[in-house]
Amino acid sequence: MSLAPVSARPVRPAAPGPDEAELLAFVRRIAADDALVASLPLDPEGRTWLRLEGPGGSEAWLIGWPPGTGTGWHDHGGSHGAFATARGALTEHALAARIPTEGWKTLELSDGLDRRRQLAAGEGRAFGPHHVHEVLNDCGSAHAVSVHAYYPPLPLMRRYSRVGAVLHLEQVERPGEWE
Ligand SMILES: [Fe+2]
Repeated sequence: MSLAPVSARPVRPAAPGPDEAELLAFVRRIAADDALVASLPLDPEGRTWLRLEGPGGSEAWLIGWPPGTGTGWHDHGGSHGAFATARGALTEHALAARIPTEGWKTLELSDGLDRRRQLAAGEGRAFGPHHVHEVLNDCGSAHAVSVHAYYPPLPLMRRYSRVGAVLHLEQVERPGEWE
């Protein structure tokens, strides 16, 4: 019996870009940057955006959310990412299952897949390439501001409507269509 030599090389192949942990560290750091967060114009009538320079070629945004606004259900076209709340609080509804991305228009979700979490200022989360969620400011009266980062830069987003347990693919948006 012989032992395999210990390799000095990393177990994982060299990553082509920032992983989920790096994106989470970035969005948390930006969320704590009071001057940058304060530079985002806020509009009581709708969401506002400011594009940021993300680490390692990632796509990043600062987003303002008046009370009652949200994204609707969507995925991220295979990109992984992270977001963190800088002001106010955001609610995320997510699915604890990997949903097939192609080959269906209507999908009935099994029981027990729904997850809800609230992210107060300073809190963030990372997500993998198959994450399906909606993010909203449902806290009533206060504006929320958050930081988002994606790698690779979003190639597309699939938008879904949802009635009860039924998810319906509404459209596939390409870069430029959601700005
Ligand atoms: Fe998202």
